Amino acid sequence: KIPADIGCAADYEVLAQRFMAPPSFDYVAGGSGRDLTVAANLAAFARWDIYPRLLADVGAGHTRVTVAGQTFAHPVFLAPVAFQNLAHGAGELQSARAAHAVDSCLVSSTLSSCTLEDVARGAGPQRWFQLYFQQRREDTLDLLTRAAQAGYTAIVVTLDAPIQVPSNRALRAGFRMPADCVAANLRGYAAVATPALAPDQSRIFQGIMSAAPSWDDLRWLLAQTSLPVLVKGVLHPDDAVALRASGVAGLVVSNHGGRTLDGAPASLDALPAIRAALGPGFPLLFDGGIRSGADVFKALALGADAVLVGRLQMYALSVAGALGVAHMLKLLREELEVCMALAGCASVAEIGPGTLLRRPEAPC
Ligand code: FNR
Repeated sequence: KIPADIGCAADYEVLAQRFMAPPSFDYVAGGSGRDLTVAANLAAFARWDIYPRLLADVGAGHTRVTVAGQTFAHPVFLAPVAFQNLAHGAGELQSARAAHAVDSCLVSSTLSSCTLEDVARGAGPQRWFQLYFQQRREDTLDLLTRAAQAGYTAIVVTLDAPIQVPSNRALRAGFRMPADCVAANLRGYAAVATPALAPDQSRIFQGIMSAAPSWDDLRWLLAQTSLPVLVKGVLHPDDAVALRASGVAGLVVSNHGGRTLDGAPASLDALPAIRAALGPGFPLLFDGGIRSGADVFKALALGADAVLVGRLQMYALSVAGALGVAHMLKLLREELEVCMALAGCASVAEIGPGTLLRRPEAPC
C-alpha cells in the first residue's frame, strides 16, 4: 500500500528511512569516501531555475522521446541498481513490473539479486541490460548472449567503477552486505585468482587496475553484439568524443551517483560541455541526483535525451514494492509534465537551454 503522506517523488526518500534498516539506508544513500560528489549532484540542480512562459499552447503536449532508435512514452528510466533485495524481497522483479506498468525503460544490473532471465519475464518490452565486464571474456560473452536471448534491446556498459571505493557513511553505520545479496547472474562463473603482488607493487595500479577494462576490451565488446551499446559513466567531453568515435550507440553522463571517484564533478555540471562536444543528435542519457520532475526537466534542458533514476527506485521499492516504484515513476512523469506545461514546452524537443536561468553565484 502507498502511504497517504507521499505527495511527491522525493517523499520516498524520507519514507524509506522508516522502511529500511538504518545501515542499508546509509549504504544506498551514501556515496564513496566523504560523499562530496553525492552532495554536488544534488546541489547542482539548485543552481538552475526554470522560466515560466505565458499563453503557450500545449494542448498537443506529450513526453515521447526516441533514444538510440527506440521510442519511449517518457524520458524517465530506471537506472541499474545492484542487489535490490536489500530494499525489498525479489526487488528486481518488482522494479521490472513497475517499469512495465508505467512504460518506463528498465536498465537491469549485472549485479541483480535475481537472474536477468527472471527479471525479463516480469519486464515490459523496453528493457536494457547493464553490463560489467567480467574477468574472463567467455563470461562477459555469456552475459551478452543471455541478455540478447532474454530480449534486452540494448547493452549499457558501465566503465566508471573499476575500483570499488568504500563509503565512509556505510562503514560508520556498520553496513555489511547480507549473505543473501549475491549476484544471481554470475553464479557458475569461475572465480579468477588475483595474482600475488611483489612487495614494491601497488594494490591499486598493479593489483585492481590490472584487471580493469581497456579500450581494447570495449572494441572487442562492440564486435560481439549486434545490440546497441551505450557507455555509462562519462564525465569528460574528450572521453565522450573518443567513445563516439569508437562506435558506441550512446552515452550516459553519470558519476555513478557519487559512488566511485569522490570529488568527481556533479553530473549536471558535466552535461552541457558533453552535449556541446557531441553536438545535437547523438544519444545522451543522464543520471545523478534526480529527485523531482523539475530535476528531469533541467537535465533535458542541458542536453540529455532521457534520465535514469537510481536511489529513488530503491527508496520506493522499500516502501511499497512494485506499486511504490510505479507510483514514484508516475509522480516524476507528472512533475515533469507540470514543468513542461508551465514552461511552455509541448514536447521534450522544446526543452532547450533557453528554458533555464542560471542563478547568480552567491557571494562568498
Ligand atoms: C548504483 N549504481 C549502479 N550503476 C551501475 O551501472 N551498475 C550497478 O550495479 C549499480 N548499482 C548501484 C547500487 C546502488 C545502491 C546505487 C545507489 C547506485 C549507479 C546508478 O545506476 C546511478 O548511476 C545512480 O544511482 C544515479 O544517481 P541517483 O539517481 O541515485 O542520485
